[in-house]
Amino acid sequence: MCGIVGYTGYRDAYNVVVNGLKRLEYRGYDSAGIVLEGENQKFNLKKIKGKVSNLEAISEGLKNTSHIGMGHTRWATHGVPSDRNSHPHLSNNGKIALIHNGIIENYDSIKIMLKGKGYVFHSDTDTEVLANFIQYFMEEIGKSFYEAIRAALNEVYGAYAICVMHEDEPGSFVVARLSSPLAIGLGDKEYFVASDASPFVEFTKEAIYLEDGHMAHISVENGVKIHQIKDNSAVDPQIQELKLSLEQIEKGGYEHFMLKEIFEQPKSIHDTMRGRILLDEGVIKMAGIWDNLERIQKAKRIIIIACGTSWHAGLIGEYLIEEFARIPVEVEYASEFRYRNPIITSDDVVIAISQSGETADTMAAIKLAKEKGAFVYGICNVIDSSISRITDAGSYTHAGPEIGVASTKAFTAQLTVLSLIALKIGKHNGSLNNTEFMQYLYELNAIPSKVQDVLESSHDIVKQIAKDFIDATNFIYLGRGYNFPGALEGALKLKEISYIHAEGYPAAEMKHGPIALIDENMPVAIIAPKQGHYDKVVSNVQEIKARKGKVIAIVNQGDTQVASMADYVIEFPETSECFSPILSAIPLQLLSYYIAVYRGANVDQPRNLAKSVTVE
Ligand code: AGP
Ligand code: GLU
Repeated sequence: MCGIVGYTGYRDAYNVVVNGLKRLEYRGYDSAGIVLEGENQKFNLKKIKGKVSNLEAISEGLKNTSHIGMGHTRWATHGVPSDRNSHPHLSNNGKIALIHNGIIENYDSIKIMLKGKGYVFHSDTDTEVLANFIQYFMEEIGKSFYEAIRAALNEVYGAYAICVMHEDEPGSFVVARLSSPLAIGLGDKEYFVASDASPFVEFTKEAIYLEDGHMAHISVENGVKIHQIKDNSAVDPQIQELKLSLEQIEKGGYEHFMLKEIFEQPKSIHDTMRGRILLDEGVIKMAGIWDNLERIQKAKRIIIIACGTSWHAGLIGEYLIEEFARIPVEVEYASEFRYRNPIITSDDVVIAISQSGETADTMAAIKLAKEKGAFVYGICNVIDSSISRITDAGSYTHAGPEIGVASTKAFTAQLTVLSLIALKIGKHNGSLNNTEFMQYLYELNAIPSKVQDVLESSHDIVKQIAKDFIDATNFIYLGRGYNFPGALEGALKLKEISYIHAEGYPAAEMKHGPIALIDENMPVAIIAPKQGHYDKVVSNVQEIKARKGKVIAIVNQGDTQVASMADYVIEFPETSECFSPILSAIPLQLLSYYIAVYRGANVDQPRNLAKSVTVE
């Protein structure tokens, strides 16, 4: 994780870098740091544990002092969050400053070698080793700054997006990338570098996404020169037009990004469907599926790989694809899949789901699947992200930028895309007849307005209910069928932002163990839509009530049976069971949001987490 920003041009570099870091704080907020080229080419460096606001408090004096500099916001991998482990890191001679997103896996052996040569280390990070390794190549081997970076990068392995400055090379910096993202913004006589385009979106719409194994020398004087790290051969830059707008990445009057993103869901789901559901023609238009229909239809098996919330969406995808398209589906955590020597053949289709499109475990699992000949289909939210570029084909979720670390609108957009894919394959391979297909299509098309309905009808109720659970220490979430993964997701949301321990279970699994936990202090959120094993869930609620558990029932509007037994009732509109997790997710997101807010937690930036997990 970590966010990096660099700027060279005519503006106040402090301002561009600090504002950019604030936009990248979703990537990590353990510490923040900045280095600017000062008078007489000397570095001015400030860094501090904690958030960018802490950095601002100690670096006021850097305002309007420079037109070139870079900054970092950290999610620690090597060494605790502290001032001394913060980036930028300097080399021993103080002339090289380096910021890094990623992990240098062989840092230890290099550190031992450098220590043997008298180098001293002031932090526990892998990053500081790289800064000194570059100095080593300059001083001991006599290489130029650029060549020393290249030499060092050819020796290290792991993952990196780096930006490096040298006091004796004023007005320029060098960036490089392997596995971690790096975008270069191209302005008029100014250049920006960042982990994503958000820090420079108001300044330019043109960007280059650096590819793996590439490095670039950037200066106002000579522009952007890209080369292969391996052999220094020149690379033609691929300039892209950014679709991101400033408005999309601001809070728009909401107290937190998470709340804004929860309320955006009618629109984000609609945007995800737009141009894809053509009701009049009775078709689903998805180029990625259509262009590869034969390969996908002939798949002997579909394997879905993802992490976290995206994995929960994958579990619902399994139910959808098996029900509508009748193709066997397996769902795996990407981190497990990549390390267990899975059996994959060219008859398999792998679907990789990732909001950020940068998750390291998912990336590695995709590479493995491709090596073994599988066709890989990506479902990503971030346009032009690494995963969207390494997959064979794919569909974007079009949820718009998701800034809150806890995923909300990306989840429901993923469910929307998976529903569309399952229906489309089912229609083409004949598993669904036209009448069934059209019924589902109409229902899916109605989901955005039902999401609006549940947002309006449940918001105040959930806000009220949340107050009673501020002091809860545990929570259980239950659901059956399509709503079992919904229960897992509900529990994850609560854990992430309120730090209350929560478990999700299939409702029927209760009696095989977890029921032992139930007493009058145990809150149980149970998802019980009319369509979806309702009678069975009624029995499960009775079992919980018999043991005095506190039931929060998430039921369809007008429900009486479960509602009469429950301590708290939250309603959502009726739909087919297969689409109900999209609707039931909304009150569960709101519930965790308000419990966390009342507990005083930092909802958008929960402790220990970061938005995109670009390390293993
Ligand atoms: C979601 O709330 C989490 N923060 C996390 O589990 C996330 O879903 C996971 O890291 C996967 O991220 P991705 O979708 O960007 O690959
Ligand atoms: N490995 C570096 C550190 O610990 C960067 C971390 C990251 O990118 O997550 O500081």
